[in-house]
Amino acid sequence: MTGTYRIGDAIDELRSLESESAAVVCLDDAWARPKRGDAYGVEYPTHDLEQTQQILAACRDVLKPGGWLIADADDWFLPRLVNYLREEWGDAAETYQNGFRKVGSVTLTAQDGDPDRSTPGWYGANGGYSVVFADKGETGRRWSASVRQIARRPQERFGWGSVKPIAPYEAWIESITEPGELVVVPCAGTAPAAIAAERLGREWVAIDSEPEAREAYRRRRESELGNDEQQTLVAATDGGNSRTLNTATDREGGDSR
Ligand SMILES: C[S@@+](CC[C@H](N)C(=O)[O-])C[C@H]1O[C@@H](n2cnc3c(N)ncnc32)[C@H](O)[C@@H]1O
Repeated sequence: MTGTYRIGDAIDELRSLESESAAVVCLDDAWARPKRGDAYGVEYPTHDLEQTQQILAACRDVLKPGGWLIADADDWFLPRLVNYLREEWGDAAETYQNGFRKVGSVTLTAQDGDPDRSTPGWYGANGGYSVVFADKGETGRRWSASVRQIARRPQERFGWGSVKPIAPYEAWIESITEPGELVVVPCAGTAPAAIAAERLGREWVAIDSEPEAREAYRRRRESELGNDEQQTLVAATDGGNSRTLNTATDREGGDSR
């Protein structure tokens, strides 16, 4: 078995996992910045900052000592996330041992490689998003992949919210973890980090509150890893509804990056 996609509340599900079991947690949280609930592409439930902070605390518990949090942010969430991490996880710049360490980014391009300007907004285009990196305690996991990645904007949304590219997760997970280690993906949506982890032979657990998100993940996985031969068990916690899916052996097949 390489992975499980669980349906449930992120905090409950994270707390039910073995503490100190994950090498990396990839969090693309559903924080509720003002008006986010009305925004295009945000059809999923959002929650307040207090709940986000509880999710972050549960992420920390599930991380191994020296494990890494990789968390997506926008311009509203970024300073709040960094402040929280500096206060609660420590300021790596001061101690050089643990805590908030870097702000990286994913720059999105159109299919031709030009910067993506498809969602310019009223006050300037980001053309991507920020990604925050923080380690839990002193870490021997040193890595050299760039925290600033460039990736094509996913062409499909698989019927679900803000779909992030897989390739940046692949670069980071490959660099930070060893084969067989656990990657946890709360608020997973289409779970690009879980698909990256599967490609790399890492164990993974994805969590989302919405069964539709798991359906979207299944469509995305099928599209990305469509030519698979092995079997993996994708178990559900919503009433013991377990299913088997094909898993990746031909990593290039169906790769739409
Ligand atoms: C920003 S989206 C993640 C999108 C994902 N990165 C992708 O590429 O598809 C946030 C996700 O969090 C889920 N969510 C919202 N509240 C949650 C909660 N309390 N527990 C677990 N998941 C939650 C939403 O259903 C949504 O799928």
